[in-house]
Amino acid sequence: GDHIKLRATDSADSKGTRVRVLGRVHRERKQKDVLFVTLRDGYGFMQVVISGKLAKTYEALTLTRETSMEIFGEMRKVPAGAQAPLDRELHADFYKIPKHWRAAGGENAITNRVQASAEHATLLDLRHLTLRGENASAVLLVRDAMEFAFNQAYHEARIRKVSPPALVQTQVEGGATLFKFDYYGSDAFLTQSSQLYLETCLPSMGSVYCIEKSFRAEKSLTRRHLSEFTHIEAELDFIDFDDLLTHLEFLICRVLEIVLGDPVTAGYIKKLNPEFKVPERPFMRMKYSDAIKWLIDHDIPNEEGNPHDFGDDIAEAAERRMTDIINKPIFLTHFPAHIKAFYMKKDPEDGRVTESVDCLMPGVGEIVGGSMRIDDYDELLAACQREGLDPEPYYWYLDQRRYGSSPHGGYGIGLERLLAWLCKQHTVRDCCLYPRYMGRCKP
Ligand code: 4AD
Ligand code: MG
Repeated sequence: GDHIKLRATDSADSKGTRVRVLGRVHRERKQKDVLFVTLRDGYGFMQVVISGKLAKTYEALTLTRETSMEIFGEMRKVPAGAQAPLDRELHADFYKIPKHWRAAGGENAITNRVQASAEHATLLDLRHLTLRGENASAVLLVRDAMEFAFNQAYHEARIRKVSPPALVQTQVEGGATLFKFDYYGSDAFLTQSSQLYLETCLPSMGSVYCIEKSFRAEKSLTRRHLSEFTHIEAELDFIDFDDLLTHLEFLICRVLEIVLGDPVTAGYIKKLNPEFKVPERPFMRMKYSDAIKWLIDHDIPNEEGNPHDFGDDIAEAAERRMTDIINKPIFLTHFPAHIKAFYMKKDPEDGRVTESVDCLMPGVGEIVGGSMRIDDYDELLAACQREGLDPEPYYWYLDQRRYGSSPHGGYGIGLERLLAWLCKQHTVRDCCLYPRYMGRCKP
């Protein structure tokens, strides 16, 4: 008869209306003549009560977890103490389980397959099944909310979205991590960053951003490096370094505010990271040279095991220890030019260092890298050559400084790293749908 199609979290206030619900068996519990099913439909969970004859059919008696069902019936309120989602139950008067909707049970049940593969690598082979779990899917749903919030926050700030190419013939962040491929007989790369393309948009579109994939052939296995990651990048026109920092801390907090403003997403975050609080602005600012002093004072050695020295790269381990001890967001600024990318602008007050910033978060370390850009043609050309880059393929990037240059800067945020911090995940591999890193390109 008449019914309305209901999702697990939709309200059903018109009493007595028959509803139709579709989903998968998350859990099932048999009690004498009643079968209780917790149905999961990707929007939430619904308690279903199947009783009488309906509980004695072959399908009901052999029901396995993850089996898909189509159920008709009436929604009824239950007391708050009954622990039914949204304090309601669906009392089934009819259901359908087409034969091919049934999930394998016994030895082949999902839970058995996942539990039998204690090895993390095997779990990753089964990512298509493990992502049905509550925690794995919660991280991905927070991710969806984050992407939406970035789009909203940029829209509010009137920063426009563009979509730069992924197939390129220039490098941005050094030759060591380029993925090279054959492009109709010439060499091309998967992009490491859309930054250079964003810069070319400024003259006609104002400040711009993109949310695109970036690719890095990282040859180490760490908990924060992927070969393919989602890069949120923005480029802002006619700004100074201070504007860049102020914008960045505002943006991060605005995005968190939007995400936490949605009760469903806030609920996922609360479950994954109960202690999470939106950080206070302004973020702590620390110059690279002061970080080196801090590391020396705290006896935290460099990669060779020696005390840190001005000019050293601050490696992942040292960076994370520092961030964990300080335990709040840090803007680490003014890195020496030789440990940073060729396009970074020098600090007018100290030619050894650049107007650059990494934003560090507890538990993860660097989640953002940004800088002011060299806006003088000759200076940029010299920087290219110092880096050993052939200027020819960069003609379009250099032209930017020939036809109306401007003081500008920008940054890239690693979405998976931001999520690892927000959702308290040990590794960025759990913050994307199907992680790609050295040795893994499946499923
Ligand atoms: O610091 P990076 O390399 O900076 C750039 O690519 C700039 N061109 C961005 C810009 O100014 N438009 O990368 C920026 C951020 C890092 O802070 C990190 O969060 C993330 O991108 N990232 C990675 N995330 C996961 N796996 C990797 N291999 C990553 N490499 C960078
Ligand atoms: Mg960086």
